[in-house]
Amino acid sequence: MLREILPAIPDLADAKLVDTVAEKSAAVRRLLRDVARDYAPVVFANSLGAEDMVLTDMIWNDGIDIGIFSLDTGRLPAETIELMAAAERRYGHRIEIFAPRHNTVQEFVAGFGINGFYDSVEARKACCHARKIEPLQRALAGKQAWITGLRAAQSPTREKLKTVSFDSANNLVKISPLADWSEREVWVYLRANQVPYNALHDRNYPSIGCAPCTRAIQPGEDVRAGRWWWEAPETKECGLHLVDGKLVRVTKPEVGAGGTAAT
Ligand code: ADX
Ligand code: SF4
Repeated sequence: MLREILPAIPDLADAKLVDTVAEKSAAVRRLLRDVARDYAPVVFANSLGAEDMVLTDMIWNDGIDIGIFSLDTGRLPAETIELMAAAERRYGHRIEIFAPRHNTVQEFVAGFGINGFYDSVEARKACCHARKIEPLQRALAGKQAWITGLRAAQSPTREKLKTVSFDSANNLVKISPLADWSEREVWVYLRANQVPYNALHDRNYPSIGCAPCTRAIQPGEDVRAGRWWWEAPETKECGLHLVDGKLVRVTKPEVGAGGTAAT
């Protein structure tokens, strides 16, 4: 199967890159198995993004004892929902869905308007809190560790990302097994293993969140430029990934100088 698609996909013809991905994949699989053994119960927060499909493929193909959940904010793109269904069909498992509480969403809409998140950072954070943060807290309750698909190269706020850290905001261990992967390595894995992925990736959406807060990027733009594009770069984290309970706002030079970064 791999042989048939090799000529059409240049990255897969790069034997060195393919070998690197094979080695890194084996290391991630070992890490996932160790974490499942040492920190049970463990859950994986799956946004259905490209990185998260790599981890989904590994966890479900290898039968690793890690529960997979998604935060269905109620505003996800149709393509993301379609991918959830496709992944469930392909692997024969269910993704556990955490939905927002209806009263907090209704309060947000009553106070700020149905699309009030465009009007201020305060409103946007209130929406993210109702639709993502509070459901995340429920998803992580009683767990010892959670897995994320974060990569250090995704943004300046993630440059200092560590594979293993303690998430003091949620009081459990946080593991980001793809922390040192490049975007190309992620795509080599997906293509080599024919893993289903979000149709929006083929339409210039490298990073995908809620539909009204995500758009396609232009050539040369940063991979997260399409997320909350109307805001200044330093506010562009929804709060799922905090350090010491805070959004840490960093600029590139400070990150290079050391210290803690929001992940
Ligand atoms: S975000 O904080 O800006 O939304 P991003 O989309 O880069 O994050 O995703 C980073 C990681 O956060 C994902 O790999 C995943 O582990 C987690 N995550 C983000 N959105 C969701 C979601 N809707 N459901 C579950 N996990 C999510
Ligand atoms: Fe609300 Fe946008 Fe945050 Fe989704 S990303 S929870 S729609 S503000």
